[in-house]
Amino acid sequence: MQRIFSGIQPSGIPTLGNYLGAIRNWVALQGQHECIYCVVDLHALTAWQEPGVLRARTREMAASIIACGVDPQKHIVFHQSAVPAHVRLAWIFNCVARLGWLNRMTQFKDKAGSDREAASAGLYVYPNLMAADIHAYHATRVPVGDDQRQHLELANDIAQKFNHDYEVDFFPNIEPLILGPAARVMSLRDGSKKMSKSDPSDQSRINLTDSADEISNKIKRAKTDPEPLPESVAGLENRPEARNLVGIYAALSDGSSADVLAQFAGQGFGKFKPALAELLVEKLRPIADETTRLLGDPGALDAILRDGARRAAAIADPIVAEAERIVGLLKV
Ligand code: TYM
Repeated sequence: MQRIFSGIQPSGIPTLGNYLGAIRNWVALQGQHECIYCVVDLHALTAWQEPGVLRARTREMAASIIACGVDPQKHIVFHQSAVPAHVRLAWIFNCVARLGWLNRMTQFKDKAGSDREAASAGLYVYPNLMAADIHAYHATRVPVGDDQRQHLELANDIAQKFNHDYEVDFFPNIEPLILGPAARVMSLRDGSKKMSKSDPSDQSRINLTDSADEISNKIKRAKTDPEPLPESVAGLENRPEARNLVGIYAALSDGSSADVLAQFAGQGFGKFKPALAELLVEKLRPIADETTRLLGDPGALDAILRDGARRAAAIADPIVAEAERIVGLLKV
């Protein structure tokens, strides 16, 4: 059975993008894999977080993942800072990865913006910590949204260089799993920008905790164009907002964009948007309700996270200890 690792930053409330691009696939993959899902609080620190808010968001993110259907008993749910093996391996990877590789990371460029000098050093080496997250478990498959593709290529480059430099076959190659018609959900305000939990505009995204009214209003106000929906997927080209909403409907109804167009071709957004809002409310309300229920018992949630961290550490500690031995760190 292959081992899966994936992570999510507690830098906001999880969005529809996180759900359709990642968490939903995490849930679906549980049957055939050993899964390890991590709330990556150390990654969140690469941009400023209010300390109390970060702690609350870490619990909320764990509750959301479980509410979406991840089983923390059969699999592992934990938060990154509770397992020091991640940081120990990340330091080794800081010394394996080349500056030239990190300079090519488009997410660093996007997040650092025009004032690169003011970005944290953590933001720059962020992909090395992400590689460590995965390789500390010898995980071989990583379900993510499309925006993480480049980071996973880097994780493979790091593993290869480590294996080559130390003449070992220690870290396996990892396979990105970028699945479904919504691997890249776009902002509701701008079809060229990805939907993000850290976007300053709440109108740009659907949060998994939004009420039915909030969801309906956001979809009603979502940017579109005046044309009716086309007959075929090719007709969505150059219509990024329409393509995005059709992709969301397709993912939520377990179909393809072509299936959605077969149903709605020729209709305007006046018809399509209410149907989409209704589907969103139907799929997201149970998740929001279950998240609220789980957050109502923080003691039980913390116990799940503690147990997850203990089981995660039992896997990662020997692997990272071996990596430390390979590079020549003295064990006394
Ligand atoms: P994060 O927290 O930005 O997002 C978590 C997951 O959600 C996916 N995602 C999206 N998918 C589709 N459309 C969107 N608009 C959208 N926005 C986010 C992301 O691709 C991701 O799968 N670096 C990672 C966290 C991480 C990680 C890891 C992932 C840290 N260590 C190890 C995998 C393995 C991140 O910032 O995800």
